[in-house]
Amino acid sequence: MATILLLHGPNLNLLGKRETSIYGNSTLDSINRSVSHLCFSDGHSVVNFQSNHEGALVDRIQQAMDESIDVIIFNPAAYTHTSIALRDSLLAVKIPFYEVHLSNPKEREEFRHTSYFSDIAVAVYSGLGAESYTQAAKAAIEFLDE
Ligand code: DQA
Repeated sequence: MATILLLHGPNLNLLGKRETSIYGNSTLDSINRSVSHLCFSDGHSVVNFQSNHEGALVDRIQQAMDESIDVIIFNPAAYTHTSIALRDSLLAVKIPFYEVHLSNPKEREEFRHTSYFSDIAVAVYSGLGAESYTQAAKAAIEFLDE
């Protein structure tokens, strides 16, 4: 049995209320439940964490190393485009991770085209709404079962 950390960046606590034409109607709770369901059915466990603070996300990634987390599924949200600190913490802990976005940042404003994570992620799932998370979870499960 493996443990997956499902990690969410700033403003994702507002999903379901926030710019629904871009991010859809699914709440963070429903996304957490779908991912947990998929992982539990395959015998893996999931821990969830959301924060609006960069340092708290860095701390959570560092903690994952002590907890022997096997895989991280991460939507860094706006930190995708700004955070060398979060990139460095993922490199430091060496835990494989999947980058997830509800929207497709590459089809949005220019400032969203840069990701500090895509080149070091196992894979990126974006533009599929809440389905981006379930696709990433399925890929993570396959990776863990290999
Ligand atoms: C996002 C895309 C980011 O550009 C944005 O800042 C977010 C959410 C997404 O899931 O589509 O907060 O990561």
